[in-house]
Amino acid sequence: MRHLLLIIAALGLARPALAADLAHGEVLYNARCGACHSPDADRVGPHHRGVVGRVAGTVEGFAYSPALKAAGLTWTPDLLDRWLTKPAALVPGTRMVFRVADPADRADIIAYLESLK
Ligand code: HEC
Repeated sequence: MRHLLLIIAALGLARPALAADLAHGEVLYNARCGACHSPDADRVGPHHRGVVGRVAGTVEGFAYSPALKAAGLTWTPDLLDRWLTKPAALVPGTRMVFRVADPADRADIIAYLESLK
């Protein structure tokens, strides 16, 4: 038992701390964002293909909150990290209330968003 715990501890240390995991990001995206978003279709939230580098609130035909439309932000990985931490802290008045608490999960999801070109 003690050996098993040591092996588990060693595996934990071997895991790269900050390397984003695209495949895990896709799994998280489907599980957590998929109820409201998809890569190519507008649902409760706007579609995400091309979101990195896009000006916030500019998907044609999507009914954004006035706050997000007026925010004047361009989505970068850093800004997406702040957004997913707490959307209303970045854009008070936004309609998106969903948050991702774990920084590693946010990094993985953002890596997946970056792959949607
Ligand atoms: C419960 C529904 C819901 C969930 C879950 C949700 N979102 Fe959203 N999202 C929205 C809505 C609604 C908007 C539009 C907000 C506004 O207009 O203020 C939005 C907007 C966004 C935008 C801005 C896009 C643009 O065109 O400017 C990004 C980026 C985004 N969401 C990412 C995510 C990610 C990544 C997840 C999963 C971790 C997620 N959202 C989960 C509803 C949701």
